[in-house]
Amino acid sequence: MATLVTNGYLARMASSTSPESTTQDGSDPRCVPIKLTAPIPIGAECAYPSYTADEQAIWRTLYARQEKLLPGRAADEFLHGLHQLELEHDRIPALADVSRKLDRLVGWQIARTPGLLAAEDFFDHLARRIFPCTDYIRGPDELDYTPAPDCFHDIFGHTPMIVHPRFADFYQKLGQAALACTDEATMEGLTRIYWFTVEFGLIRNPGGLRIYGNGIISSYGETRHSLTEKVKKVPAKPESMAVQPYDIWHFQDTLFVIESFDAIEADFDRWARTHGLLA
Ligand SMILES: [Fe+2]
Repeated sequence: MATLVTNGYLARMASSTSPESTTQDGSDPRCVPIKLTAPIPIGAECAYPSYTADEQAIWRTLYARQEKLLPGRAADEFLHGLHQLELEHDRIPALADVSRKLDRLVGWQIARTPGLLAAEDFFDHLARRIFPCTDYIRGPDELDYTPAPDCFHDIFGHTPMIVHPRFADFYQKLGQAALACTDEATMEGLTRIYWFTVEFGLIRNPGGLRIYGNGIISSYGETRHSLTEKVKKVPAKPESMAVQPYDIWHFQDTLFVIESFDAIEADFDRWARTHGLLA
């Protein structure tokens, strides 16, 4: 589940990996969830890797492409968060810097994860207001899709939304609720809520329908697809999202629209309490 939850749109491309990058069972090793055996670096403990010039160029290309595409499509709240974080356009941001800014703004930190985390490790960090973030970037042949989490998805896609105080609280509650969940059916519902909000959520802004889900926002193709008439738009109620199956292998044909982050946080809080997941 963590594969799908933490990696959004990326996971569905796992089957398109080249043979040399697959494990014996055919899966991409980058998509195999990691169970932590020791704490991972947090905030200032995250060292800046020695990226190659090619890797920095991939960040620049991805950033420039989305920067051009997102106005009029991305949520005001996302664009505001992006502005507040002042993420570098021309080089991969340092996790320590992003963490410091998030801590100052909303009391969240960044931890450097070696890859896709096992669900319990991932949610344990969210519950403590720590976002596990990769610091490596996809290859030049994976600009549109990559089967594994990378720092463009994690930093560019995820962190601007965490700047929003209500989203930040909602995100923490998702982690807390997941940790408290022992029932498989309820966990499936929670996974779907995560998918249709954090990764694939839409919001009604004063200017019209906009995207806040980072699985969409960090994907050029999904960004262009999600607001079209090909996608059915449904009011986002936890009860509806919890029973809506999703397809990890194709563009979404149904997406859920929130009216505000106040509303989704309050609605999720109520849903989680009803299921005994939040005190
Ligand atoms: Fe994600």
